[in-house]
Amino acid sequence: MWARRLAIWPTLPINVYFRNESTCLPYPLNDDGCRVFSRARHAIWNACHTLGLGAKDIVLVPAYHHGSEVEAMLQAGVNIRYYKMTELLEPDLQNLESLLTPDVRVLYIIHYLGFPQDAGRWRQWCDDRGLLLFEDAAQAFLTEIDHKPVGSFGHAGVFCLYKTYGVPDGGAVISMAPPPLPGSAIKQGGWRVFKRHFNWLAERWAAIGSMHLSCKPMLKWFKKKKCDPHREFALGDPFSPPSAMTMRLLPKVVDSTTAARRRKNYYFLLHKLGHLVPRPFAALPAGACPFAFPVEVNDAPSVLKKLRRYGVEGILFWRNAHPSLPVQEFPRSMAFRNRVFAIPVHQDLTPSELNQIADAVLNATSSAEMQQSVTGTNSRESLKQLIKSIFLVIWDCNLCQQL
Ligand SMILES: Cc1ncc(COP(=O)(O)O)c(C=O)c1O
Repeated sequence: MWARRLAIWPTLPINVYFRNESTCLPYPLNDDGCRVFSRARHAIWNACHTLGLGAKDIVLVPAYHHGSEVEAMLQAGVNIRYYKMTELLEPDLQNLESLLTPDVRVLYIIHYLGFPQDAGRWRQWCDDRGLLLFEDAAQAFLTEIDHKPVGSFGHAGVFCLYKTYGVPDGGAVISMAPPPLPGSAIKQGGWRVFKRHFNWLAERWAAIGSMHLSCKPMLKWFKKKKCDPHREFALGDPFSPPSAMTMRLLPKVVDSTTAARRRKNYYFLLHKLGHLVPRPFAALPAGACPFAFPVEVNDAPSVLKKLRRYGVEGILFWRNAHPSLPVQEFPRSMAFRNRVFAIPVHQDLTPSELNQIADAVLNATSSAEMQQSVTGTNSRESLKQLIKSIFLVIWDCNLCQQL
């Protein structure tokens, strides 16, 4: 079956080069103290240094985390103490209080999927105890609380630009004292731009979308062979600047309607799929800029495989906690890791693409579909897909080596 490929990452239209540049960039890019690195983890590492954190200091970190932020802090030399989340994915106040010792310096909060934590409340809580508040808005660029941007409540805030716009990379940080400008060599970012353009084509044309969908499992298998499961947490060079293409394209892609468009798409999916949404994400706050739409099921990996047949690439995000987390002590965060996956909600989706997503989820989670085997496609179809995949993997690897 031919299907447009719809993924959670924003794509990059081919005509972006002819667009006018926006004269006003959103927070934190419009703040003189803002620094942009290649990735948010670099921004976190640098913020730890400008906040003056060191080996004697403890940061309280949520058990539900990506892993790269934890690795960045550990690499910056600070100690981590994990705290529990409530069932609404807020920091568990009682647990936080029980973790306080004189060497605790920072409360680290994460604005999950663009849904804001009550940052004002946590700032007050920190002020009352002489702590610093670190806001992780990696998934919440453009999210506001009462018209005030997240990331501006704390003593430091970090953001991922490429999660909201189809630029190759970009991790911004705002902190009490701005870090020095990143000093390593600037990369062009051409390969990632190409991939984002290709994704844009795959989102619009079913023939390209199907080709992409059929080659992805092979690529994943190929990558898995080469890497360990925690590789995605690696810090890399913390002085990496954003790529040249990110800085060139960012002013052309930012748009004051982005958050509202994402919210509109979220409401659309909420209307159709509300019964599958985990409780913390069942009501969208007014100023949120949702990064993705969460769906909770019993067997997330198998539903994700089925979704691919309808052209929808969801992700089981944050499946692996950072290895330093004693997972058995945090069953709630592990339940989210195992049961919740994310589907696209980005600003460029059309009504027909949103319908494709909603129908795909309904079909993939319907009882009739659940009974079918995921690998139930006939063998000739599989062989055709395999040949296509091999061709694309070779092509992909050749390009990778050239860049
Ligand atoms: C909550 C959170 N913080 C930090 C990061 C690190 O972002 P980056 O991959 O840009 O370093 C991520 C990445 O997904 C994240 O989800």
